[in-house]
Amino acid sequence: MAEQNTLQAQPKPIKGFFQLLQVMQEFVSDTFGWAGRAFQQYGDLHMWQMGDVKQYMVIHPEHLYQVLVAQAHKFHKNGDYTDPQRGLARFLGSSLLTSDGEFWKRQRKLMQPAFHHKRIEGYAQHMVDATAEMLHRWHDGTLLDIDREMMALTLKVVVRSLFETEAGEDTQKISEAMDTIQAFTGTPRLLPTWIPTPLEMRTRRAVNLLDEVIYRLIAKRRADTRTHTDLLSMLIEAQDENGERMSDKQIRDELVTLYLAGHETTANTLNWTFYLLSQNPHIEARLHEELDRVLGGRAPVLADLKSLPYTEQVIKESMRLFPPAFVVSREAIEDVTIGEHAIPKGAVVVLWTYFTHRDPRWWGEDAEAFKPERFTPESEKTQTRYSYLPFGAGPRICIGNMFALTEAQLMLASIAQQYRLRLKPGHAVKPDPKLTLRPKGGLPMILEKRTIQGISMALDHALA
Ligand code: HEM
Repeated sequence: MAEQNTLQAQPKPIKGFFQLLQVMQEFVSDTFGWAGRAFQQYGDLHMWQMGDVKQYMVIHPEHLYQVLVAQAHKFHKNGDYTDPQRGLARFLGSSLLTSDGEFWKRQRKLMQPAFHHKRIEGYAQHMVDATAEMLHRWHDGTLLDIDREMMALTLKVVVRSLFETEAGEDTQKISEAMDTIQAFTGTPRLLPTWIPTPLEMRTRRAVNLLDEVIYRLIAKRRADTRTHTDLLSMLIEAQDENGERMSDKQIRDELVTLYLAGHETTANTLNWTFYLLSQNPHIEARLHEELDRVLGGRAPVLADLKSLPYTEQVIKESMRLFPPAFVVSREAIEDVTIGEHAIPKGAVVVLWTYFTHRDPRWWGEDAEAFKPERFTPESEKTQTRYSYLPFGAGPRICIGNMFALTEAQLMLASIAQQYRLRLKPGHAVKPDPKLTLRPKGGLPMILEKRTIQGISMALDHALA
């Protein structure tokens, strides 16, 4: 592995409320610019002292491995997740994403079977069906915000996977609450929560709304004697080794977590993939060739994915350049040594996988270029260990990674077979790193109906 870049100079401590506010503002207005400059100036692992809080910035693959895998037991999720007032826990309660220790271990064991590959088949049907419904609404020449389309599409899939069709009219309510979570996580929270700012009031309403909808859905299902195969039923029925089941509160927390974690990340994977394809016509042409040859115009099914290796490589490479979860953070629960650095108990470590994924030391001088062939089985073997972590690593690796990859591939295959998506002329795309990495201000694209092997798909559509 290449030398670690450990420059001596370290950032000066940030003192006082106004200096903190200024840094926060700079950070929020240009997150990647700010963090990128910090790594260049202060090296692979450096520390920002903000008041009493020590925050370590990390990008080196060996350090990522130490935090997430080798010394994972010395870290917990940090306050951004676990703080019941200021963290995600305010919305998600105590769930897989926001808990630690024995409680997390039990929840992970209870939930793992719901993500077993045998279960993916059922979810795959929702993925294919929802995409077909969306494509049915699409027309040649239309200008659409693809961000909005992908968000609605993956939301539909997660709602059906969680609640079959029962959430129906509640989807809108849950979606509104989720928008508030976005606003909440994207805004520095410096004021105490008893001050009734507009965001604070929206936050309270969102939590009440989520509780009202989700508890109602749980109660309805508990009273239902029919067989269901969705995640809600699996969570209700799951038992630990002592035969104990989850309480309504635990089920509520896990459902909201899966809802949050399970759609926006995949929607963004698709957003960035369509954007990158629109900027790289030779890669787009190769993808179309594979799809036309293997599928010949029919909708894909799960079993097709093994015959679509290039489709998978396109998705993986897109997640390298634009990882939807672009940082992972932890808090040290004891003193830890990472490389040459002593990290004290209570310090926060922020792992900037976005920069690791674009570092020429691991990805070559063309690290910024979109090259799906980096993910052929042979090339994957030569990749630097822990230089590619779109789903994290170690015990806390994304539980939904297979769900997400399947979903992204099935959706890309269905959509790209029928349409070429062209970026609206003059629109500049910029990443917006909030809770996930979204395209700032949406992704306006023009739909262009494709022809397969000389047969117009428009004709197929008209005859269907
Ligand atoms: C492209 C899509 C996705 C990406 C990029 C992604 C990324 C991640 C990452 C990086 C983590 C680790 C966070 C950490 O270590 O702190 C994570 C955890 C998690 N993800 Fe995903 N995720 C995706 C899709 C999904 C889906 C579809 C679901 C569920 C349906 C899901 C559910 C979760 C949960 C529950 C955790 C917490 C796991 C634990 O701590 O035990 N994710 N995800």
